[in-house]
Amino acid sequence: MSDQRAKAIQIAHEQRQTFLQELKEFAAIPSISTAPESKPDINRAAAWTARKLESIGMRNVRVIPTAGHPVVYGEHLQAGDGAPTMLIYGHYDVQPAEPLELWKSGAFEPTVRGDELFARGASDMKGQVMATIAAVDAALQAGHLPINVKFLIEGEEEIGSPSLEKFILENKELLASDFALNPDTGMLAPDFPTITYALRGLAYFEVRVYGPDHDLHSGLYGGIVHNPAQVLCELIAGMHDEQNRITLPGFYDRVRPLDTDERAALARLPFGEDYFLKQTGAPALRGEAGYTVIERLGARPTLEVNGLLSGYTGEGSKTVLPAWAMAKISCRLVPDQDPEEVHQQLLNYLEAHAPETVRWEVLVHAGSPASISNRESSWVKAFARAQEAVWGKPPAFRREGGSVPVVILFQNLLGIESVNTGFGLPDDRAHSPNEKVHLPTLYRGVDALVHFLYNLA
Ligand code: BES
Ligand code: MN
Repeated sequence: MSDQRAKAIQIAHEQRQTFLQELKEFAAIPSISTAPESKPDINRAAAWTARKLESIGMRNVRVIPTAGHPVVYGEHLQAGDGAPTMLIYGHYDVQPAEPLELWKSGAFEPTVRGDELFARGASDMKGQVMATIAAVDAALQAGHLPINVKFLIEGEEEIGSPSLEKFILENKELLASDFALNPDTGMLAPDFPTITYALRGLAYFEVRVYGPDHDLHSGLYGGIVHNPAQVLCELIAGMHDEQNRITLPGFYDRVRPLDTDERAALARLPFGEDYFLKQTGAPALRGEAGYTVIERLGARPTLEVNGLLSGYTGEGSKTVLPAWAMAKISCRLVPDQDPEEVHQQLLNYLEAHAPETVRWEVLVHAGSPASISNRESSWVKAFARAQEAVWGKPPAFRREGGSVPVVILFQNLLGIESVNTGFGLPDDRAHSPNEKVHLPTLYRGVDALVHFLYNLA
C-alpha cells in the first residue's frame, strides 16, 4: 500500500467516533421531501450538508435553489494534470417515517443498538452520503486528494427527482466530469460486496374513482348505485392476468428481453426463493410466470398498489357507501419502457374497462426511465478492486429493483457512466419503520471508497 493510502485508511479508522456522531446529527433532521410541512427541515438538511462539505475543504460550496428542493454542490479540483474528475451523487432527503408507532426508538432520534444505527435515512442514504464525504476527507487529511471531485447532493430523490433534469441541463459545465459515483444502491449481504449495473425506472400514479356526489347511507341507497370502492377493486384486479403479467395494453412492447448469458450470470448469484421468503416474511412468493426471483426483481417490470383509500376505515363500524375511492399505483420499469407511454397505457386500460357508472381521473406523481450501466468501464474495475481489497473477494454484479433517477439523467444529459454501489443491506428496512444501517459494513464502505480514490489516480 502506498504511504498516502495507508495513512488515509488509518485516519478514516481514527475518525469513526466523529463520523458516527455527525451521522446521528444529520439523521436527526426530518428532511422528508414529500411533506410540504418539512420544507424548513429540508432547508436545514441542505445547509447542514453544505457546512459539512465546507468543513472538509470543498471549494465553491453552494446551496442552489430549484423549483423544488435545493441542490448542494461542492468541488475539489486540485488533483493536477491528467487526474480524472468524479461526480459524487447523493440525496439528503428521506421517505416519511409513518407508521410512527412501530418504531422502537424515534425515527429522527438516531439510536445505536449493538452494531446498528437506527433512524430514518440511516441507510437510505445519509449514511452513504457521509461515507463518501468521510473518504474524501481522509484522503485530504492524508495530504493530497488523488483525483478531482464534485459533489451533487439533491433533496428530491425520494419523490422521483422532479427538478434534477432541469438542474443538470442548466449546469452542464459546472457538473462536467469523467464519470459519476452513485452510492445509493446496496449490497446483497454483509460479506457480498456488490455493484449494481441496472436500476429500474418508475411511473407513479394516483387513480381516483368518483360515484355519488356525497357519501350515502348504505341502507337507504345501497343496491342502486355502483360503489366506487368496488369499481376500483375490480379495475385493479384486472390489471394482472393469471400468469401475473400486466394487462395494460402494450405494456411489454418495449421491454428489452434478457439474453442467455445474462440469465446464466444472474442464476449464479446464491440468492433463491428461500432467501427472499426470509427477507420478506411473506407466507409465499409470487410474481410473473417464467422468471426467477432475481430476474423478476431487476429485469422485469411490475405494477403495484402502494395505497388504497375509500369509505370508513376508523374503529368500529359505519354503514356508508363512499362517494369516491383512490389508489396509489406505481410501475417499476425496465429498459426501454417510457414512463409517459405507460401513463397513456393506463389511461387506455381505464377507458376500456371503467364502467359508465363512475367518473375517474389519473394524477401523475413521478416518472423516470430505467438505466443500464457499463459493467466493463475502468471506473467499475477500479471500484471492484477497491471492494476486493476490503472484503477479500470480488463484487457480485446485480440488477436492482429500486430506482435512482439520476443515473439515466447523467447518461443522457452529461454523457457519463455511473458506478452504482452502496453499503445498505437488504434487511435495513429502507422506507419502513426501524430503518437501520449496519455500522461495520458502512465503515468497510468508507475504506473501500478510500481505496477507490487511490485506484483511480
Ligand atoms: N436508494 C433507494 C433505491 C435503492 C434501494 C436502490 C436499495 C438499490 C437498493 C432510493 O433512495 C429510492 O428508494 N428511490 C425511490 C425512487 C423513486 C421515488 C423514483 C424508489 O426506488 O422507490
Ligand atoms: Mn436512496
